[in-house]
Amino acid sequence: MWEGKRVTVLVTGGIAAYKVCSLVSTLAKQGAKVQVAMTEAATSFVSPQTFAALTGNPVHTQLFQDSGEILHIKLGQQSDLVVVAPATANILAKAALGIADDLVSAVLVAASTPVVLVPAMNTVMWRNPAVQANVHLLTERGYRVVTPDSGTLACKSEGEGRFPPLETVLDELERALTPQVLAGKNVLVTAGPTREYLDPVRYLSNPSTGLMGLELARAAWLRGACVTVITGPISLVIPDYLKQVSVVSAREMHQAVLKHFPEADILFMTAAVADYRPALEESTKIKKTGGKLTSIPLERNPDILQSIMPLRHPGQVVVGFAAETESTEIHALAREKLAAKKLDYIVANLVDKTQAGFGCRDQEKVFILGADGFQREYSGIEKRDLASSLCDLVSGARAG
Ligand code: C5P
Repeated sequence: MWEGKRVTVLVTGGIAAYKVCSLVSTLAKQGAKVQVAMTEAATSFVSPQTFAALTGNPVHTQLFQDSGEILHIKLGQQSDLVVVAPATANILAKAALGIADDLVSAVLVAASTPVVLVPAMNTVMWRNPAVQANVHLLTERGYRVVTPDSGTLACKSEGEGRFPPLETVLDELERALTPQVLAGKNVLVTAGPTREYLDPVRYLSNPSTGLMGLELARAAWLRGACVTVITGPISLVIPDYLKQVSVVSAREMHQAVLKHFPEADILFMTAAVADYRPALEESTKIKKTGGKLTSIPLERNPDILQSIMPLRHPGQVVVGFAAETESTEIHALAREKLAAKKLDYIVANLVDKTQAGFGCRDQEKVFILGADGFQREYSGIEKRDLASSLCDLVSGARAG
């Protein structure tokens, strides 16, 4: 993603400036050409030398150069993206008013590329009506202002105002450079396994980690969608920019999908939903006895996709997933499921006992089949790339 991208990072004077070292380092390691400019206050927190070492480029702090180079124009216009991190209340106010009295503020006035501001400050400062009014104004003018995290702040108070995790900031930057083909769309994703309890401490489940679903949710959000993700029990961290609904059993997932599907333009049903549940859930732990436990009676769970298809309204795109264990049958099974569930697309992939397909970053064999005759096959594709490809496919499907 970042290979060859020209990124101007403007550092202003907040304690979170130290976190921007990791951001700059990651961008540079991933191939971005990073130029850093700092306000005078920012240099009290991190030395320009640190950013120079991380980027391999000189760090700029002065508006006017002896060399005659017009730096604020170069940094604002000869880059693919301008990032202000951390963005103080002061720079938000200056940007809102168009003040250009130092290098950083002048770059913002001169910027002709997308600008992302990452505010970080004390909660009371963040909530100050003047700051909020500036954020509102900047957002209206097309700047992307990232919502700060909540937690313990440098001043030891608790609340909103923290610099978000590195991954979230990187995703925000990527979003600013991604064509917003899903802007205004609601995307619903189900992810992970379900658990079907036998007693309070034992359950039937599967090794799904929810990674494919989260990659799809991320890819849809990068393209401008508003994304809700319904997750079974998973341990992956869900970024704040996704709305999360947590469920445990297939029946809970069914209820959650029924609730959110009417608002969705696109549904990616990646969850590995248990087809069966114990007919009886004991209220206390099942005790072992001397003899065998010969059977556990099971009953069918609702087929979520089948139950919602009659409710779909025109234009809703539904994508089902099918994890299969027989390589030779993957095409036939995909065709069968696409027809039986009346889906727009089915994504069939191979899984096995070694957990190939579950949890790992890439998929060994994937077959995508569309009701419109679309077919594509991959042997060895990263889940992140598959998610991008599927989002582009469904955004095209909507447009068409
Ligand atoms: O028929 P099969 O269970 O293999 O189909 C898989 C697809 O159906 C997946 O998209 C899965 O999320 C969905 N599913 C469902 N309800 C179930 C089981 C699976 O919607 N009870």
